[in-house]
Amino acid sequence: MIKNFAHRGFSGKYPENTLLAFEKAVEAGADGIELDVQLTKDGEVVIIHDETIDRTTDGKGFVADYTYDELKKIDASYIYKNHYGFNKIPTLKEYFTLIKDTKIITNIELKTGINEYLGIEKKVFEIIQEFHMEDRVIVSSFNHYSILRMKALAPKIKCGFLSETWIIDAGKYTKFFGIECYHPHFAMLTKEIAREIKAQGIEINTWTVNTEEDMRDLISKGVDILIGNYPDITKKIISEAEGQK
Ligand code: G3P
Ligand code: MG
Repeated sequence: MIKNFAHRGFSGKYPENTLLAFEKAVEAGADGIELDVQLTKDGEVVIIHDETIDRTTDGKGFVADYTYDELKKIDASYIYKNHYGFNKIPTLKEYFTLIKDTKIITNIELKTGINEYLGIEKKVFEIIQEFHMEDRVIVSSFNHYSILRMKALAPKIKCGFLSETWIIDAGKYTKFFGIECYHPHFAMLTKEIAREIKAQGIEINTWTVNTEEDMRDLISKGVDILIGNYPDITKKIISEAEGQK
């Protein structure tokens, strides 16, 4: 069964990486939610895509230069010009509190590619344990060293290597390091590449898939999870494909 994950929540219609976008993803019938985490100055794990708050909020500067008390006063939905009222930058703990009584699986993307945020893996693992989410998370990152750190301290947590490039033998590479999933950009997933990854027993979780045509094409290539901005559309296309089997 192919799974439908909402990228940054239902970000096609609602302010990305906010509790509102996560709630709407659940309502739209998503099986899972992908979100991005960074660390504040005082070590709080917060959900925001960029290293700075400039693009998505009414503030300016680096996440790492703010304490969480300062950051929570900033509007993460300001791009929508008050259409959705005030929406704060959520913490990972607030997110888990929101979804803990659902069946939602969470893909936590560690944004450790630019700022390494040393120690973030341990903090994230502790929060996963606090909420008993060990069986309902996939931790991914473009920084594969960060994923190896997570795997070393939490061998039972499912992990994924993110990639936005043409890695040769991605399946072998992923398996060699004992990682369960490969998360390629969808445009870099040819039939041959998908076959090689599946032959190694690795899950393929691909992003950011927003058109019906791409969804159908990727389903035909045997992907496991479609991560996209429109979980309502993804749900419809997956149901159609499952119905044809
Ligand atoms: O995790 C998939 C995808 O979110 C990776 O890219 O930049 O949207 O975080 P980005
Ligand atoms: Mg992401």
